[in-house]
Amino acid sequence: MNQGTMRPLKLGVIGDPIAHSKSPIMHAAALRERGIAGDYEALHVKPEQLEAAIAAVREEEYRGINVTIPHKEQVMRYLDELGEDALRIGAVNTIVNENGRLIGRNTDGIGYVRSLKEEAAAELAGRRIVVLGAGGAARGIVYALASEAPQRVTLLNRTTERAKALAREWSDLADIAALPSDRAAEALRDADIVINTTSVGMHPHVDEVPIDPSLLRGTEIVSDLIYNPLETKLLRLAGEKGCRIHGGLGMFVYQGAYAFEYWTGVSAPAEAMRRAVLESMN
Ligand code: ATR
Repeated sequence: MNQGTMRPLKLGVIGDPIAHSKSPIMHAAALRERGIAGDYEALHVKPEQLEAAIAAVREEEYRGINVTIPHKEQVMRYLDELGEDALRIGAVNTIVNENGRLIGRNTDGIGYVRSLKEEAAAELAGRRIVVLGAGGAARGIVYALASEAPQRVTLLNRTTERAKALAREWSDLADIAALPSDRAAEALRDADIVINTTSVGMHPHVDEVPIDPSLLRGTEIVSDLIYNPLETKLLRLAGEKGCRIHGGLGMFVYQGAYAFEYWTGVSAPAEAMRRAVLESMN
């Protein structure tokens, strides 16, 4: 904060494309709410410009940068240090500039878990969690879930090998199992929490569901990473069956909240951040 109180904090997000990112609106609201002088810019960086962009982050003394598609993996090679989270997930979404030393972190998974706890009052310790999907989004989430002492995490994926590889990679962290999608009934039979990390149900394919909703018997919480639409068909049907439902907007808000906290040392105003994003969607 010593730097921040003396001159405006320089923050931003790099990606390609970047014009539709909600991060500038969300972080501007956070800075305003906390009375911190600063600017958060959307920086359009193409893959061939990534190395130069990271050099500029150092030279122009940006305090923090968010990293989005398609740079989350490639950016790692240009940083000075990687947090344990970024190393194990294999992707960076947040850079913290400590006096010219660039540190890569990943707040996607912990952001998701914080939103699940705060918004769905989820208890994770000792619970049976089923994760639908085994792609990039699943990686961050499963890593963060594994440190919450669940009884078991079962990965259910169309391509079984992908789920098996992830389960093997992190077998030291938790009891992680892998099943093909056609064994959904078995996986879901005693699930406490079901989390969709696939893109099935995302706009414009809003009529699709990643699993047969009739399998959600006795599931306490159903969560979907998708936030366009804010309520997917999976969530709507799960809600009708009496499950507690949790949408994907919170993950976006809390990955930003953790980044804001790393950069400023000040607790993030999550509600103001969420409001700003929601208002910009209308
Ligand atoms: P992301 O970074 O968003 O996770 P990804 O790495 O491409 O993107 O992973 C997408 C995930 O959604 C995968 O688990 C994918 O299943 P496969 O590994 O079998 O490809 C899943 N997915 C995407 N479209 C799907 C569909 N139509 N039906 C079932 N699963 C789907």
